[in-house]
Amino acid sequence: MDKSYVAVREVMLRDGLQNIREFFPTDVKINLFKLMVASGLRNIEITSFVNPKAVPQFQDAAQLVQAVLKLKPAGVEVSALVPNLKGAEKALESGMRNLAFVMSVSESHNINNVRRTTAASLEEMKRILELKVPYPDMNIKAGLATVFGCPFEGKIKPQVTLNFVRQFYNLGLRDVSLADTVGFGNPKEVKEVCGLCLSEFPDVTFGIHLHNTRGLGPANAFAAFESGIRLLDGAIGGLGGCPFAPGAKGNISTEDLVFMFEEMGVRTGINLEALLEASQYFKTVKKDASFSSSILEAGVPAPRGAITMDGSEQKWNI
Ligand code: COA
Ligand code: ZN
Repeated sequence: MDKSYVAVREVMLRDGLQNIREFFPTDVKINLFKLMVASGLRNIEITSFVNPKAVPQFQDAAQLVQAVLKLKPAGVEVSALVPNLKGAEKALESGMRNLAFVMSVSESHNINNVRRTTAASLEEMKRILELKVPYPDMNIKAGLATVFGCPFEGKIKPQVTLNFVRQFYNLGLRDVSLADTVGFGNPKEVKEVCGLCLSEFPDVTFGIHLHNTRGLGPANAFAAFESGIRLLDGAIGGLGGCPFAPGAKGNISTEDLVFMFEEMGVRTGINLEALLEASQYFKTVKKDASFSSSILEAGVPAPRGAITMDGSEQKWNI
C-alpha cells in the first residue's frame, strides 16, 4: 500500500458555507476558489444545487459554476453536490459535469435532509444516471451521510453502509464517499468500515468526509489513511456542518489535515502557508468567522531559539 501521498478534497465552499446564514456574494466565493487553487488544492467542491429556500447560501450555484469554469483551472476537479434529479439537471445545465450525489444511510436523516426515504433517493439516483444519455461526460459519485451514526437513530451498523455501497456498485458507480456527518465515529470503527468497503469493493475509489464534532477528526482521518483511503475531505478553517443534522459541527480542518500528513512525510501537494491565506481572506469578509482549526490557532511549530545558561539567548517573554 503506497503511503507516500494523499489527496485532499476541499469542501469549504459547500459544507463550510451551508451552515452560515449570511449570504456571501459570488465574488467572495470566486476569490476563495482562486486562493484554494493557488495553495495546490486540486479537488474542490464549489457549491450545492439544492432548494434555495432550504439553503439560501447556494442561490448563486449556477453563476458560481459558470464563473469558475471560465477560469479553466488546469488539473483541478471541481464538483457540486446534488440531492435529487432537479439538482442534477440544474447542475448539468450550468455546465457542471462532476456531481456529488448525497443521501444518508439513516432513514431519519435522509428524510430530514432531503425529504425522501432512502429507497426514494436510490430511485432518484437511477433517474440521474439516465442523464448520461444527453450528458455523456457527466461523472457522478455517491456520498453516503451518517455512516457512523445519525443524530436521530444513533449508531449505524457497517452492514447497512455496505448494503448501500453494493446498490450503488450495481448501478455502475465506482466513486463513493463515506461521511461521518455528526462525528459519531471513532478510529476503530473508521478502520473497520473502511477496511470492509475496500476489501469488498477493490475497484471502487472510496473517499472519507469527517466532521470533527468531538475531537476525533484527525484520529479518524489517520485511521482511514491507514486502512487504505487516499481521498480525504477537509474544509478550510474547520468550517461546516449539515443544517439538517442537530449537533452538526465543522469539518476536519484542511489546515490540520495538511499539517498532519506533511509532518508524517505523506505528500498532499498543498502549500500550507498559501492555504492559510484563504482563511485570512475569509476573516476580512466575515470578521466574526468562527474557525475550528488547531493550526489556525497555534500556527505551525516555530522554534523560538536556544536557551543558554548565561541568559543571552533567552528570547521568550511570557
Ligand atoms: N435545486 C433547486 N430547487 C429545487 C431543487 C434543487 N435541487 N429541488 C427542489 N427544488 C425546488 C422545487 O422547484 C420546488 O420549488 P417551488 O417551491 O418554488 O415550487 C421546491 O424546491 C420543492 O420541490 P420538491 O420537489 O417538493 O423538493 P423537496 O421539497 O422535496 O426538496 C431538496 C428536496 C433535497 C431539494 C430540499 O429538501 C433541499 O434542498 N434540502 C437541502 C439539503 C441540504 O443542502 N443538506 C445539506 C447538505 S448534505
Ligand atoms: Zn459534511
